[in-house]
Amino acid sequence: RILILDYGSQVTQLIARRVREAGVYCELHPGDVDAAFLHNQRSLGLKGIILSGSHASVYDKDSLKVPHAVFEAGVPVLGICYGMQAMAQQLGGEVNYSDHREFGYAEVRARGHTRLLKGIEDFTTPEGHGMLKVWMSHGDQVTRVPDGFKVMASTPSCPIAGMADESRGFYAVQFHPEVTHTIKGQDLLNRFVHEICGCVGDWTMPTYVDEAVARIREQVGHDEVILGLSGGVDSSVAAALIHKAIGDRLTCVFVDHGLLRLDEGKQVMETFAQNMGVRIIHVDATEQFMGKLAGVSDPEAKRKIIGREFVEVFQAEAGKLKQAKWLAQGTIYPDVIESAGAKTGKAVAIKSHHNVGGLPDTLNLKLLEPLRELFKDEVRKLGVALGLPHGMVYRHPFPGPGLGVRILGAVNTEFANLLRRADAIFIEELRNTIDPETKQSWYDLTSQAFAVFLPVKSVGVMGDGRTYDYVVALRAVQTSDFMTADWAPLPYPLLAKVSSRIINEVRGINRVVYDVSSKPPATIEWE
Ligand code: XMP
Repeated sequence: RILILDYGSQVTQLIARRVREAGVYCELHPGDVDAAFLHNQRSLGLKGIILSGSHASVYDKDSLKVPHAVFEAGVPVLGICYGMQAMAQQLGGEVNYSDHREFGYAEVRARGHTRLLKGIEDFTTPEGHGMLKVWMSHGDQVTRVPDGFKVMASTPSCPIAGMADESRGFYAVQFHPEVTHTIKGQDLLNRFVHEICGCVGDWTMPTYVDEAVARIREQVGHDEVILGLSGGVDSSVAAALIHKAIGDRLTCVFVDHGLLRLDEGKQVMETFAQNMGVRIIHVDATEQFMGKLAGVSDPEAKRKIIGREFVEVFQAEAGKLKQAKWLAQGTIYPDVIESAGAKTGKAVAIKSHHNVGGLPDTLNLKLLEPLRELFKDEVRKLGVALGLPHGMVYRHPFPGPGLGVRILGAVNTEFANLLRRADAIFIEELRNTIDPETKQSWYDLTSQAFAVFLPVKSVGVMGDGRTYDYVVALRAVQTSDFMTADWAPLPYPLLAKVSSRIINEVRGINRVVYDVSSKPPATIEWE
């Protein structure tokens, strides 16, 4: 395994993804781990350490130092950006402070004499120098390498853009190999983890399933487990995995708050209860939720009500399962990292996201989170490996409060029914429309797409009559991280067909509009 120490860069998660893509298991931890932690990692088979970048300078008084034990752990270390500067400074080199940042594309001359870069280059200059196309983002830079180190890469403005002390297995680069703008970044990281650290690269989904099943069995013993199944990707994959491990000792509670997509409840019951034989308690709490939501139009108030009612219903059901000792959740790695960020105050809450995650401690259950170490794409691969339907595993994300935040203002059953039908038509057409260039459907070409119900009426004409009905907005975005997003350039014929089908088939809606706002400044959901 590889350990990644995080010093606060925006792209640290990407290092972990690249290492996993190299087929190597890795974990990401805060940069101030202690010697005992490293000792424990070594007994777990630690083969190498990567030090991330940071928004900070090594000269900031509260910037984290790299624990000295890292350099004494006896495994190769790769420093990236801040990781390089910290390595240089702490091992006796020199770092020059600068308040001016160098940011973006750069061409780096790579000295092929190191094991890390040998044979890795994007092009050769007429003088015969091997060059790498990279992405840089730094202010400070190393001006003198520590004893024992040699310069490994350089640019005109950053003469020490890489350094290495191969006798100790210490390597460092000023640029970011983890971002895709660094063309050969994956090759460089592969080289580090496979050849320099000696990791085999056999971390694949099927082996992971066996390991994860064994781990769950060991953790849970003969106890029973309950899980709040939402029908979303994460809780579904968690349910399938735990079911594989402990069969009937897993009970899922599926709370239908009346704000699900068309036929979603039916699909969840079919997939899990009928096809897989998972024990599920299906609670139809539509009336309870609608009652509490009646007349409430403030988005945050609606989210809070939905969150609170969800917990109440779930708790009531869980309370009936006296033997259950564990509460399973579909927490995934980005959630773990994000909530760590929230604790250090780095994240700003724009919307209070309610997930099944917010269940109270009063249940007195131990937490089982078997997906804690996986990224979303890995969760999906795991779902496929476990035999879940492709369509379910590759579904767009759906917010916990469901249609509750897609019906603007006060929610009621009439609006929910109209929205469900309009949304289903939109999704069906996205799935059926194939882009001739990429051969993919527009559903797969968008990251999230849905209809939004606007509780305003506008005038229309249908046949010989005047209509005065509601408006639906279509939203479709493309994004890789949901933090920023672009509105999707859907083809006009697709929009035309969706619009005409919704207006013809959903009585009560006479106007369809397309949302052309990106995030920021808009958000993906309308509330
Ligand atoms: P926004 O609207 O903030 O959404 O751009 C970003 C992503 O988060 C989802 N989202 C939520 N998910 N509970 C959730 O579980 C929520 O309250 C919630 N609000 C937004 C949204 O669907 C998008 O994928």
